[in-house]
Amino acid sequence: MTSSLERSLVLIKPDGVARNLTGEVLRRIEAKGYVISELKMLTAGDDLLGEHYAEHRERPFFPGLVEFMKRGPVVAAVITGHRVIEGIRTLAGTTDPTTAAPGSIRGDLAFETGGPVIENIIHASDSVESAEREIALWFAA
Ligand code: RTP
Ligand code: MG
Repeated sequence: MTSSLERSLVLIKPDGVARNLTGEVLRRIEAKGYVISELKMLTAGDDLLGEHYAEHRERPFFPGLVEFMKRGPVVAAVITGHRVIEGIRTLAGTTDPTTAAPGSIRGDLAFETGGPVIENIIHASDSVESAEREIALWFAA
């Protein structure tokens, strides 16, 4: 086990904000012991989302993903803590909300909508490299 102080970029996606779950998601992150270092609400556009989800640009769900993420405001946060990247991915649960573990954010709060893309309330960085890239995108000076 390595223990290093990290930062993670968390987004509360438009489904979570629209369902008034911003507080619940941030409560779980703070209750775990992590620190909210930056916090803001914004509605993202094509350029930011194209950069953020660049790894998925060629995937069939990409257009639906961008439409979903533009549908309403998102809350963006920088969360700080030891091994916070892995920790928040664990709090979030797996991508598919139907099978995400109960107790996780997606397992407890998200559900299948029948729409073109998976709606699952939270984004959390998956590595130190993506976290630093994503923080620069969402919190550009
Ligand atoms: P995220 O990047 O948002 O934290 O989620 P993740 O790592 O768990 O999942 P990823 O594979 O990176 O996919 C990004 C987001 O795209 C949507 N998605 N929909 N087949 C589908 O309909 C599909 N696949 C992915 C989800 O919103 C997923 O979180
Ligand atoms: Mg991802």
